[in-house]
Order: sequence, then structure tokens, then C-alpha cells
Amino acid sequence: MDSSAIWTEKYRPQDFDEIKGQDHVVDRVKGFVKQKNMPHLLFAGPAGVGKSSLALVIAKKLFKDQWQENFLELNASDERGIDVVRIKVKNFARTKSISNMPFKIIFLDESDALTKEAQQALRRTMEKYTRTCRFILSCNFSSKILDPIQSRCAVFKFKPLKKEDIYDLIEKIAKNENIKVTDKAKQALFDVSSGDCRKLENILQSSAAVTKNITEKTIYSIASQALPKEIQEILDMVLKKDFINARKKLLSTMLENGLSGMDVIKQIQKNIWQLKLDNRKKLEMIKMCGEIEFRMVEGSDEFLQLESLLADFVLIAS
Ligand SMILES: Nc1ncnc2c1ncn2[C@@H]1O[C@H](COP(=O)(O)OP(=O)(O)OP(=O)(O)O)[C@@H](O)[C@H]1O
Ligand SMILES: [Mg+2]
Repeated sequence: MDSSAIWTEKYRPQDFDEIKGQDHVVDRVKGFVKQKNMPHLLFAGPAGVGKSSLALVIAKKLFKDQWQENFLELNASDERGIDVVRIKVKNFARTKSISNMPFKIIFLDESDALTKEAQQALRRTMEKYTRTCRFILSCNFSSKILDPIQSRCAVFKFKPLKKEDIYDLIEKIAKNENIKVTDKAKQALFDVSSGDCRKLENILQSSAAVTKNITEKTIYSIASQALPKEIQEILDMVLKKDFINARKKLLSTMLENGLSGMDVIKQIQKNIWQLKLDNRKKLEMIKMCGEIEFRMVEGSDEFLQLESLLADFVLIAS
């Protein structure tokens, strides 16, 4: 395989058993493929957990080497509105499946990006072509999909991957790519990716471009998040009311690791709950993080905002 390939594609699952952590979904879908029949499907879940990958595996299993002619992938948020979707669906659905299957598959990614009206139109389209097509809809939140569409689909909820699945994936890639990933680096990858495999593979690939011996530090600098250790140290200084040193450490951590204010505020927010303070004070601090994050989004000076946050924390801790 081309060594310059993007890992998220290079390591895209090609078979059911390569899709990790979604057994509750995969087992039922396997049944549909075995019977060579399936209802419309709705895949709901966070980014990078295998929704598109499973749709592709279904198509490859059902249609074998003719899968490309029988599988249409559309992105609800790319395509300019439901009309484009409708025309593409119509053209695709008009001709009979060229395999021995009675239907073709239309995969509509990010279907929760469709407006209510567009979803109504989609629902009619689904009904119209039910004889010749099966739809697989993918979304982040099934609650954003109209009930009448949901009730026409078998709904499957995908989950963020668990630690052992993430570790398996890291080990498989590390072996294949000839890189070393320390245990702490694995933990860091798990923390920064929060169960999103695409994010994990991208960070790992960027890290591997820098070094073959990947440590916790590599991961955090690539992922642009301060090492939790350093953020923790800054917060400890704050608790000791040592504003001057906390501020100094914050500045050096940000500069050395090329962190944005947003990276830092997210990391601080994550660490607050572990502080030895009474819960009320922690709540106040979490609330402030939200306020500062908002100001940063609105475009105010990031370091100034973080400084003011540290000052507020010192006052709370006193
Ligand atoms: N469950 C999984 N097991 C193994 N690898 C996975 C899994 N989920 C995702 N991946 C890896 O991440 C890549 C992206 O996954 P995929 O496109 O299936 O995500 P998705 O759920 O469709 O996300 P999105 O909502 O962003 O479209 C895959 O090519 C694969 O390398
Ligand atoms: Mg997808």
C-alpha cells in the first residue's frame, strides 16, 4: 500500500470484524446481509466511530465487485439543498440494480443537517423509491431526524470507542507502521481523541511524521493541548495564590507547545473537578471557563482573558 496514504483511509475497516466497539450494531447488520434483504437504516452517533465505514462494508458484502455501481454516497450538508439530493437520487434509482440484488443503496451522510422541510421531501423520496433503493442515513443526533423518517428505518446507535478498542487500534497501526508508542502516549491518544478514531489516526499519523518513538509529549504537542501535568501545576499555583508564577508558567506552556487560548481553557476546565476545593468553588470556576471561552470565540485577546481567569481563580481560592 502507498506509504503516503492517509491513515484514516488506509485503515478503514474492510470487513465487519474490523469495525471495533459496535458489536451491538454490526451483529444485526450482518443478519441483513446474510438474508440479502434490509430495511432503511439510520446510523446515529458521534464522529469517527464507524458509521460511513459500516455502510461501505454493507455495500461491498452485498454487491461484491459491483458495489460502486450500486452504492451512491451523498452528503446532506455538501449538496446544495434537498433538490440536488432528489435529482441525484432519482437518476440513480431509475435504473435497476445491476447485481443480483433487488435494490441499490443510497448513503446520505450528515442527514441531521437537513432542514425540517428538506426532511419531509426526503421522506417522500424514500417512499417513492423503496422498491428499488434502500437508504442508509447517517447523523450525529437521531433526535434531529423527524419521527416519520425514524419510524421507516431500523435505528442504530453507535458509541464512542472504549479504551481497549482504541488500544487495539493503536497497536495494530503501530505494528504495521513500525513505530513505537509508549503506554502513556496510548493513554494520551485515548484522552485527546475521546473515542473518535478519525481524530486518533490523524494525530498518530502526524506524530509518526515527527518521530518513530511516540511519547505522551509528542501526542499532546500534535494535538495542541497542554500536557495535563503542566496545566495541573498552573492550577496548583493558583490554589496557593501564587498568581505571578501561575501566569509565567501559563505563558511559557502556551508558547512552547504552540497552544491556542481555546486549547488551554478546555484543558483547564477538564482539570478543575480534580482540585482539592469545595464543590461550590469548583462550580464557580467552571462557570467562569464558559464565560472566558465565549469571550475568546467573540475575538478578545486570549492571553489577557486567561490572565483574568487566573486572577479570578486566585480570588475564589482565597
Ligand atoms: N469502529 C471503528 N473501528 C475501527 N476503525 C474505525 C472505527 N470507526 C472509525 N474508524 C476509523 O476512522 C475512520 C473514519 O471512520 P468513519 O468514516 O466510519 O466515521 P463516521 O462514524 O462515519 O464519522 P462521521 O460522523 O464524521 O462521518 C475510518 O476510516 C477508520 O479508519
Ligand atoms: Mg461518516
